[in-house]
Amino acid sequence: MRITLLLAATACIMAAVLLCLSGRESRLLRADPDSIPGNAALMAFALSRGEPLFQMHCAACHGTQGQGDTGRGVPALNDGDWLYGTGAVSDIEQVVKYGIRSYHPRAWNLAIMPAYATPRPSARDSRIQSLSPQSIRDLVEFLFRAQGRTADAAGAARGAILFAGAGGCYDCHAMDAKGDSAIGAPDLTDRITLWGDGSRESLSMSIAYGRRGLCPAWVTRIDPVGIREVAVFVYSLSRPRSRRGGAV
Ligand code: HEC
Ligand code: HEC
Repeated sequence: MRITLLLAATACIMAAVLLCLSGRESRLLRADPDSIPGNAALMAFALSRGEPLFQMHCAACHGTQGQGDTGRGVPALNDGDWLYGTGAVSDIEQVVKYGIRSYHPRAWNLAIMPAYATPRPSARDSRIQSLSPQSIRDLVEFLFRAQGRTADAAGAARGAILFAGAGGCYDCHAMDAKGDSAIGAPDLTDRITLWGDGSRESLSMSIAYGRRGLCPAWVTRIDPVGIREVAVFVYSLSRPRSRRGGAV
């Protein structure tokens, strides 16, 4: 009798906990994603569950602190610099769902960095012509100058002409080389590199052999509430104050 009562009581507590959890889960799902950081209780709940999901699914590429890996073209998620969107929870959630160049039909349909040292730099656009090693060196000098670093003046001047003309770089990275997040072309004037250490060598590797980073689509692997939780956690990585509750 006593055991039955005890079991019943335990079952009641379990049910209450489950109900409570699913209540918070459904509140999380119903909320406007960008309002979550302003709701301390919901934020704390999402973070407590988003972090383990991040460690399980994302850390292998993005690093346990979201620091990224320039050896593999994996961006840092903790620096407030976004390739896609503005870093709002809703933008992050969109990337996490469908990925980047992930072959998911709803993934961002993005450009690919052509391989200019090869006979056919772009499989998609036959108008893009190969560049000589000298032209690639000049473009690197131009990028160094654009980043405010010491560069060879004559090379940079020739590189500027190539960038805005025959090289076709402006078409994706924009005339001012600040990139275009709509097609995933990074800002080339800042010193934040997606690939490599930003040295002359790594810049010329990008131009010569091309780049295409892939972030998997998670919509088929993580349930909707988990995707939102992990998106909230990623949001918090570049805004440490948001972890203590309160919008930033
Ligand atoms: C068809 C569009 C396209 C064109 C044209 C293009 N790029 Fe890119 N470029 C990209 C994309 C997209 C990436 C990022 C690839 C990724 O996300 O992995 C990139 C990456 C780069 C990078 C690496 C940046 C980093 O942060 O590591 C450099 C350097 C670069 N491009 C320089 C150039 C130069 C110089 C030209 C012209 C000769 C050029 N690109 C032309 C689309 C383009
Ligand atoms: C296989 C490696 C890999 C895994 C696993 C991975 N990513 Fe990515 N992720 C990438 C790469 C590479 C890019 C950059 C793609 C590009 O070149 O534009 C990226 C880009 C992103 C971006 C866009 C960053 C920006 O600057 O706009 C977000 C957000 C992101 N990933 C979140 C996640 C989350 C959350 C997970 C786990 C659920 C995850 N990723 C798992 C490789 C990975």
